[in-house]
Amino acid sequence: MSDWVEACAADDVELEDVIRFDHGGRTFAIYRSPDDHYFATDGLCTHERAHLAGGLVTDNIIECPKHNGRFDYKTGEAKRVPARVKLKTYPVKVDAGKIFIQID
Ligand code: FES
Repeated sequence: MSDWVEACAADDVELEDVIRFDHGGRTFAIYRSPDDHYFATDGLCTHERAHLAGGLVTDNIIECPKHNGRFDYKTGEAKRVPARVKLKTYPVKVDAGKIFIQID
C-alpha cells in the first residue's frame, strides 16, 4: 500500500537544490528543479550508499558527493559511472505549501 507522507515545506528546498528526508527508517532525497518542480528519489546512492542530499544538483542531474556518479533525479537513470544502478523515484505533490511524497 502506498501512503502520501508529508516531507517538508516547499520553501525548505531551494531552487536547483536537494534536501534529505528520513522516514520510517528510510532516507529519501527531495529535489527542486531549476524550473521549479519537485522530485523525490531514494536518498542513498546505489553505488556505495552515500547521502545524495550532500551532492550537487545541476539541471536534472544529481551528482553524488562521494565518487561523483550522476543520476537523472527525474527518472532515476544512472548517468555516469561509478553509478550504474538506477535510483528509485517516488511521486511528489505540493499541497498548501507542503511537499508530500508517495512511499510504497
Ligand atoms: S557512493 Fe555515489 S558514486 Fe560512489
